[in-house]
Amino acid sequence: MLEDRQALVAWFDRTRARSAALFEMIDEAAYYTRPITLRHPIVFYQGHLPAFAINILIKKGLGRPGVDARLEDLFARGIDPHTQDAADATEERTRALWPSRQEVDAYVRQADHLLREALLNDTLVRDDVPVLRGGEAVFTVIEHEAMHQETLLYMWHRLPYALKGAGAPDGYSPWVSGRPPDRSEVRIAEGVATLGARRGAVAFGWDNEFEQHTVPVPAFDIDAHSVTNADWLRFIEAGGYRTQSLWTPEDWQWVRAEGRTHPGFWMPHGGGYLWRGQFEEIELPLSWPVYVSLAEARAFARWAGRALPTEAQYHRAAFGEPGGGERAYPWGDDPPAAAHGHFDFAEWDPAPAGSHAQGASAWGVHDLMGNGWEWTSTVFAPFDGFTPMASYPEYSADFFDGQHYVLKGASPVTARELLRPSFRNWFRPQYPYVYAKFRTVSR
Ligand code: AVJ
Ligand code: FE
Repeated sequence: MLEDRQALVAWFDRTRARSAALFEMIDEAAYYTRPITLRHPIVFYQGHLPAFAINILIKKGLGRPGVDARLEDLFARGIDPHTQDAADATEERTRALWPSRQEVDAYVRQADHLLREALLNDTLVRDDVPVLRGGEAVFTVIEHEAMHQETLLYMWHRLPYALKGAGAPDGYSPWVSGRPPDRSEVRIAEGVATLGARRGAVAFGWDNEFEQHTVPVPAFDIDAHSVTNADWLRFIEAGGYRTQSLWTPEDWQWVRAEGRTHPGFWMPHGGGYLWRGQFEEIELPLSWPVYVSLAEARAFARWAGRALPTEAQYHRAAFGEPGGGERAYPWGDDPPAAAHGHFDFAEWDPAPAGSHAQGASAWGVHDLMGNGWEWTSTVFAPFDGFTPMASYPEYSADFFDGQHYVLKGASPVTARELLRPSFRNWFRPQYPYVYAKFRTVSR
């Protein structure tokens, strides 16, 4: 990839164009708002994407000055602070500093020009510069942007529809057909799961994907399908949100403090619920996977007398084969295609559970990659052999705090380049904004 400059620039251009289209979706009036109050206002993200690329590739990698040192500092980093107070304090400090949209647009144009020129003409792979080893900087920059396209979309999801003035693209109509699949289980035989990637064997991986290792996994049963909105209605009717014994102490505190009575993507309506989609509210599609926080998922699992899969169990169910082998994707070794799953910006909202039968795993487990990230019960922690990456040493290390859990798979808006068995996502248990679903396993 890095040898073929035209292909590389095409990948960069495609990624930048998708971001530009995302910023086009929202109205001027939304630009300085925080759709998720734990995160920065929208203006930050438009600057963050190119500034991050300049900081890593141009400054750290090639040792040249960027475009505007002040903006590149302001836009350097924007991860979720731990508390609302911390977020508000940051916002207070920076509110006066956010530049005008015009100024950001001008910065973006200059940064993109500098980046394209570097991608076309500079030496991008060098052993003597740590951030350029194996071309790390280039992959870091483009995959970082792809990840943010998803975080942007779930931020946009929270905006009032009036602030997405352009509305849904032509031809958009949510895929709501289908009866919810019956809950059924699949037996996964005892065996070994390979987690992580081998350095040198993959073109790129984030630091938390290394080193590769195997984990023995005893036999277990797993839901063939993700838990659906229909299943979740039963949890509500059984008083799930009112039964303290189903929740961990922290989760219960969250349920009480937020006054939660239903998933964050649902809207109570006339005694029932609507799904609050990216562009419109629709009658709750019973066949869709339910998108919930880990706190909610693990309360459901306890209610059902089950557990959430560990990261290793996910790997067994997704990539293991009854004969003992392992594959690159649940469906086999073919590169991801539309028939395999609901991913790579296939849609703005979910699809019915089980609607991509061609993407089922060797055991017949559906939707393991696509249609929503899958929560696991595994705390996000380094594998043996972890070393912080040169291009972005804080990327994972800042989150090895016991407060984040691993998610696997992909959502409808996860870019195809992030679909690899070793990719790990992570969030806090009470973070309800992510396009994340779950399934349960036997205890
Ligand atoms: C890996 C999705 C948890 O959005 O917080 C983006 C990715 N890190 N910029 C996040 C990330 C820095 C990260 N997640
Ligand atoms: Fe970022």
